[in-house]
Amino acid sequence: MKKLVSLLLVVVLLLSFALTGCSSSDSKMIGVAMPTKSLQRWNQDGANMKAKLEEAGYEVVLEYADNKIDQQVSQIENMITKGCKVIVVASIDGTALKGALAQAAKEDIKIIAYDRLIRDSENVDFYATFDNYLVGQIQGEYIIKDLGLESGAGPFNMEVFGGSPDDNNAYFFNSGAMDTLQPYIDNGQLIINSNQVDMEQIAIQGWKSEGAQARMDNLLTAFYADKNVDVVLSPNDSLAQGIVASLKAAGYGSADKPFPVLTGQDCDTTNVKMLIAGEQSMSIFKDTRTLADQVVSMVSAIMAGETVPVNDTETYNNGVKVVPSYLCEPVFADKDNYKELLIDSGYYTADQIQ
Ligand code: BGC
Repeated sequence: MKKLVSLLLVVVLLLSFALTGCSSSDSKMIGVAMPTKSLQRWNQDGANMKAKLEEAGYEVVLEYADNKIDQQVSQIENMITKGCKVIVVASIDGTALKGALAQAAKEDIKIIAYDRLIRDSENVDFYATFDNYLVGQIQGEYIIKDLGLESGAGPFNMEVFGGSPDDNNAYFFNSGAMDTLQPYIDNGQLIINSNQVDMEQIAIQGWKSEGAQARMDNLLTAFYADKNVDVVLSPNDSLAQGIVASLKAAGYGSADKPFPVLTGQDCDTTNVKMLIAGEQSMSIFKDTRTLADQVVSMVSAIMAGETVPVNDTETYNNGVKVVPSYLCEPVFADKDNYKELLIDSGYYTADQIQ
């Protein structure tokens, strides 16, 4: 009888171990919470990170939240229950995770904010991203070079779009680009006919293509009935897709209405095709392999109790503290360099962008 009871105990213990995945003390489990599957980049980010973390010997719980805040919160809570030691979060709304992160901190779980800073919480341990201000700067510099602004060309008609207002990155992209372009706005080489430059006027909720398309439609109707728009500053590719749809519907892409200089970010396959077709001028390339490698180094250092590699301890104040960050360097892709950057490097196959 005694033997039977202890046998039963062992079975129960083994079962609970199997159900929770591991005992929390020797867990090698890492949580990865991504915002949505609807944008190509997050699928790549998630897949890359899972592969690299597994290669490094970790078990990975990877979840996508369909851009729903509640869903992301419960996914993080689940990761905590499962005994994850580190949770990597690309947040949907950078201000909505305070409660979940406080719970994680109680369990001594470390949080790495991925790509987007998590705001208003003291329980964000590290931040891994591409340099968001530099993203905007490179977009601005591309416009300056493409239009020949340094040699006095112009004036050109420009419109400006902003990213989602709940995404901390959106403000960095905007200031990087606008700080770079401001001298040419001030001296009249760039004319913003709508006068809309504040984030309240230009931000597109949820980074939605349809939102960008609707705003571009409105701008074209209200301000461009008798002139062409020559430049559109778009912070990313999903917005650029909507902007191009609107431009096409208004007859752009013809000899008397050439496509404007148009920026973007992410090098989504759809947009790389748009670069090749001459509908979009450039896109920022943020190689998710680089960021995933960085996150794996951070996770490994945390797990080994070693110093976590960071290269910026000043820029990213989340409202409560400055979060130690590692900033990777973005580059731009356009029709002249995309082959080398995206195909020769093995990021995409030639088939993917045909
Ligand atoms: C990312 C961009 C992305 C955008 C929309 C931003 O936080 O940094 O790469 O295009 O979100 O998902």
